[in-house]
Formats: sequence, structure tokens, C-alpha cells
Amino acid sequence: MTRRPTASTLRARKGQRFPLVTVYDAAFARLAEEAGLDCVLVGDSLGMVVLGYDDTVSVTLDDMCRHVAAVARGSRKLHIIGDLPFGSYEASDHDAVTSAVALIRAGAHSVKLEGGAARARRIQAITAAGIPVVAHLGVLPQTAGLDRGFRRRSDRAQLLSDAEAIVEAGAFACVLEMVASDLAAELTATLPIPTIGIGSGRDCDAQVSVLHDLLGLGHNPPPFAKAYTDLRSYTIAAFQAYASEVRGENPSSVAAAPTAE
Ligand code: KIV
Repeated sequence: MTRRPTASTLRARKGQRFPLVTVYDAAFARLAEEAGLDCVLVGDSLGMVVLGYDDTVSVTLDDMCRHVAAVARGSRKLHIIGDLPFGSYEASDHDAVTSAVALIRAGAHSVKLEGGAARARRIQAITAAGIPVVAHLGVLPQTAGLDRGFRRRSDRAQLLSDAEAIVEAGAFACVLEMVASDLAAELTATLPIPTIGIGSGRDCDAQVSVLHDLLGLGHNPPPFAKAYTDLRSYTIAAFQAYASEVRGENPSSVAAAPTAE
């Protein structure tokens, strides 16, 4: 049986192409593992795609721990990256370490937080506590809505200095969200750690896709998201087939259906 990748294993994939997907529960963790994926992110996109919020701001550490624990119960070999939610790490190193510990206790194997140079001390504090950290640059969804919005990021000097700061602080990988693709390629060529792209072109080391977008279940998918199937249509068709069978609209299949208690 292949072993669960550690943060060091993932860091050593620098220069290789590898896929990550977000998952939020045991059922999809099992399926991701069965499909041969070995690294998943329990992202705070949970807030929108599962919990029905408009953004990630309302997601709490308890929410994240509950869903990290569900993913951990559904998997034996996945490396689980747990997302630190808004408000759980910004105020102090103490908060950051305490929140990261909660995610690890829930079943994560590393944590992710948003921000560059401004978060370098938090990354340093968490890694000093022995917990591997994934950084996140480019569009930072937890605060983008409060200020700069969700436009593609192309400030080269800012991105390069943020990237340098998070590497220096000890991050073992870095998400690049909606970074101009030429800059994402430059960062990928320059940084000693894997870049994990989302909406940042094809040249990152890894790519991460939000589960619901990938499956065609996205309610309001971003323009860069690619659906690899259309589970929305399949699900609606299955609900309709079931409902029509139960209503007796198709008597022959009702007769064959298992009886409900
Ligand atoms: O929460 C999330 O799903 C994420 C990805 C978009 C990288 O942070």
C-alpha cells in the first residue's frame, strides 16, 4: 500500500505536475482516494459550496475542524491540508498556533493560511510548533471582498517579495490564486517550493480545483473553473426519476422498486 505523503514528500514534488482537489466530507474523501489522488484541501470554500454562505468570512474554526475530521474518517492515505479560516490566525502567533493545533487534532496533516509578507511571522510560529504550512498568494478570498476584489493579480514586485517572505518563513508549498499566468510561471520557476495554481495558468507545479466546480455542481463557478462532468444534470435527473417512480408515474418501475419503510 502506498504511504500517505508527508509535507516533505509533497515539497519534493517541486518540478512535477500533481493534482489536488478540495473535499469536505468522508464520502468524497473516499472517492478521491479511490481515484488515486493523494492530497486534498479541506478549504474554507466550504462556506460557499457546502454551507450556503456568500463568502468565506462566516466559516469558523469549529466548522473547519468538523469537516477536516469527516474527511479524515473517510480516508486512509490522503494528505489532508486544513484551511485556517478567517479570524483564526491573524491577531497573534498564539492564535495561529492554537488554531493550527486544532486542525491537526481534527485530522489534518498540514494547514494553509492566506497572505504573504504580512503573515510571515504566523507561518514561522506554526512551523516552529512542528506543523507544516501551505501559504496562499494572489487573490486572498477571505479579505478580497473587503478591499481589492477578485481581479487577477499582476503586481510583480509585490508577489515576488511576498513569495520570498513565505519561503523564508518556512512554507512548504504555496497556492497561487488568480495570479497572471506569466507571473505564476516565473514564481514557479523561481521558488524552491511547489506552487499550487488555481486560475493561474498551466505552468504551476500543481493545480487545485474546487470539488463542486470540477463535478459541474458549482452554483456560481469562477470563469477559470473547468467542469469534468455534469453532476448537476445527473443529480436532477436522478431526483426526477425517483420522484416520478414514487408518484406512480411509471407503474412498472414502482413495482420493482424496494419498499420504503
Ligand atoms: O478554500 C479553498 O477552496 C481554497 C482554494 C480555492 C485554494 O483556498
